[in-house]
Formats: sequence, C-alpha cells, structure tokens
Amino acid sequence: MRYLILSDIHSNQEALRAVLSFVRRKPWDKVVVLGDVVGYGADPNQTVDMLRALKPLVVVRGNHDKVCSGLENGELFNRIALEAAMWTRKKLTRSNLQWLRKLPQGPVEVDGKFAICHGTPIDEDAYIFGELEALNVFRHTDFPISFFGHSHFPVVFALSPEAITTVLTVAPSFRFKLRPGVRYLINPGSVGQPRDGSPLSSFAIFDGDTGTVTFHRLNYQVGRTQRKILDAGLPRPLADRLSIGR
Ligand SMILES: [Fe+2]
Repeated sequence: MRYLILSDIHSNQEALRAVLSFVRRKPWDKVVVLGDVVGYGADPNQTVDMLRALKPLVVVRGNHDKVCSGLENGELFNRIALEAAMWTRKKLTRSNLQWLRKLPQGPVEVDGKFAICHGTPIDEDAYIFGELEALNVFRHTDFPISFFGHSHFPVVFALSPEAITTVLTVAPSFRFKLRPGVRYLINPGSVGQPRDGSPLSSFAIFDGDTGTVTFHRLNYQVGRTQRKILDAGLPRPLADRLSIGR
C-alpha cells in the first residue's frame, strides 16, 4: 500500500495542484493529511474542495484548522496568523467549515502501520524542531513510525538502540529506506508554505510494503499564489515568505 502524505497545505491551491498533477504519474493508493489544510493562503475553499474530492483516508486537524473553523479563538497566534485565520473563517462555506470542525485530533493510527499527527503524537500543538524534542516524543510514545507536520520542513528523526540521528533532505527527490528495529518520526515538509529556505512545495509518499519514504520537492506558480494573497488584502509578509521558503 502506498500512502500520499500531505501536510500544511495552508490554502495554497497552486501548490496542491502541482502536487496532485505530479503524483498522477506516481502510483499511490491512499492519501493522509497531517493538518493545517487552511490558514495563510487566499484559497481556503478551493483547497478544502480539492482535498475532499480526493477522499482522504484520514485528515488530522492542525492548529490553523481549529482557529479558522472557530474551534479555538487563536489567542496564541501572532497578529498576522490571526488576521489570516479570521479572514479565512469568513470565507469558508458552511460545508467546509463543518468539515474542518469535525477533523479528528491526532495521533491517529493508519492501517496498523503508522501514526499521523499535526505537531507531535503527545501534543497536537507542540513542535518537533530537533533531536531533543524528537527524543522526548520517542520516550513517551511507542509508535514505530509517526508522520508529523507543523514545523514546515522535511526531516527524518531515527531512533536506534544506540543513537538518535537526523536526516535533512535537500534533493528534489529523496528516497529513504526504513530499517527494522529503528523507530521514526518523519515530517514530509509543507505543501503550501515551506520554511526550510526553499520555496519548493514538499510532500512524501510512503510505501508500506517496502518500508520506503520518498520525499519530493516541486516548483509551483508561487507568483500567482502571492498575487492572490495581496489581492485578498491578506498581510504582505504571507506573500513575501513564499518566494524565500521562510
Ligand atoms: Fe502549519
């Protein structure tokens, strides 16, 4: 079974469209989403509609999905994120608002093979930036393989009986073979707002039969997405950051 793993799409229709057009040539069976479908970008309804049409197996909620759908008030958001969330809440159709409100909280186990969550399997709003946070998660959970998002950069943390290691991926396409006896925390990167210094959209495909994760980075129409953000009256930094991947 091959899983298309998407995270942090953030209402970026062009990035999601580029990913879906790319994977038309790549075989995959099921799609799972690690949260933050909306927030920041100018196309919340189009993005949710595209995702719903894929009939994803599981979509866990992200912090932006909660605030944009009114489940939380966003008191921990910075001014720009909150402004975008309130704008998004007004734009969402009733049906998409309801869909977002009903998204489950992670972690959710998928086919008994791996877990998915937004921030961490312990706390959906917490971040895993480095090995210290990853080690803490490994110590307090027992999932052999977890996929997470929220930090917006592709990374693998691997815990063997001897050591924890970090794999940062830089190639446009990178295959990583999982080893038995090693536990993994894997971030596929952000589809709609990458923050690792590269503007390229990021996602992964996990082959559950061969135990291989393939990361992909793709160009998309960044300029078009930026124009839409500015035309919608959303804060300029949300457009600017897309061209530098920050
Ligand atoms: Fe996010």
